[in-house]
Amino acid sequence: MEVKKILVVGAGQMGSGIAQVAAQTGYDVTLNDINMELVEKGLNVIKKNLDRAVSKGKMTEDDKNKVLERIKLADNLEPAKEADLVIEAVVENLSVKEQVFRKLDELAPSHTILATNTSSLPITKIASFTKRPEKVIGMHFMNPVPVMKLVEIINALQTDPEVTKTVKEVAEKMGKVPIECKDVPGFVSNRVLMVMINEAIWELYEGVAPAENIDNIMKLGMNHPMGPLALADLIGLDTVLAILNVLYEGYGDPKYRPCPLLKAYVDAGWLGRKTGKGFYEYK
Ligand SMILES: NC(=O)c1ccc[n+]([C@@H]2O[C@H](COP(=O)([O-])OP(=O)(O)OC[C@H]3O[C@@H](n4cnc5c(N)ncnc54)[C@H](O)[C@@H]3O)[C@@H](O)[C@H]2O)c1
Repeated sequence: MEVKKILVVGAGQMGSGIAQVAAQTGYDVTLNDINMELVEKGLNVIKKNLDRAVSKGKMTEDDKNKVLERIKLADNLEPAKEADLVIEAVVENLSVKEQVFRKLDELAPSHTILATNTSSLPITKIASFTKRPEKVIGMHFMNPVPVMKLVEIINALQTDPEVTKTVKEVAEKMGKVPIECKDVPGFVSNRVLMVMINEAIWELYEGVAPAENIDNIMKLGMNHPMGPLALADLIGLDTVLAILNVLYEGYGDPKYRPCPLLKAYVDAGWLGRKTGKGFYEYK
């Protein structure tokens, strides 16, 4: 199936990144959020990224304008009626995703593929919220989307192999490398990553070392480009906690139990880069 129009639902850090890359690839994109202020905020992030690319000589002003012309904005899901592919990137909360998928299923034509960028929630369950479970799939982009190559492709039990083929082609057109895995809590990526991040938070909680030392040990010792605490701040501590809860509940294994310090930071609204404070402070 040929995809021409893409609707991205949720204009936060992931949704805006996905919309940017899709528009740069030549797709007609609509970026949605719950109100126009949030949609504009997402668009401004895209504009800043494109301005930076122009100032570095990686893109012309004309190309930038063409990319921006391909992005429409919406505070409702009506554009699903026109979309060939919807990529959902709203908050990591199953009941919010349920509402969104039920509405998308109602509005979108029967050929439309409904993909989710969830970090950990069961795709099989999300598919069951619709009357087209065979057209639902996980398309897990990495943060920051314009930079990171991987798209983890997660097949629900019900996913039609043709749908998998189509979204892999879309990801490749976007310059990404799609890699498939089965639908288990946390998939491949976050089942591994979140255990490491949580362990680093436990170390901070126990006073084993300050945040900078924990991160520098992992950067210099393991050749990681970023330390686990800085990475948690980039992902968003609310998202990290939500993923750990899915892992903990999904496997019933205490190795995934979220550190109380993480819960306290989320309660305090210290969510990382997006709020200006997490394990580090951001201006
Ligand atoms: N942050 C990461 O590193 C990362 C990486 C891969 C995947 N993800 C996943 O991507 C999704 C989004 O994460 P994020 O980091 O962009 O979060 P974010 O908090 O930056 O953005 C979420 C956006 O969703 C919007 N939203 C909430 N309810 C909505 C609704 N009903 N309709 C439309 N928009 C709605 C919010 O207003 C917000 O703008 C989550 O499922 C997350 O697990 C995140």
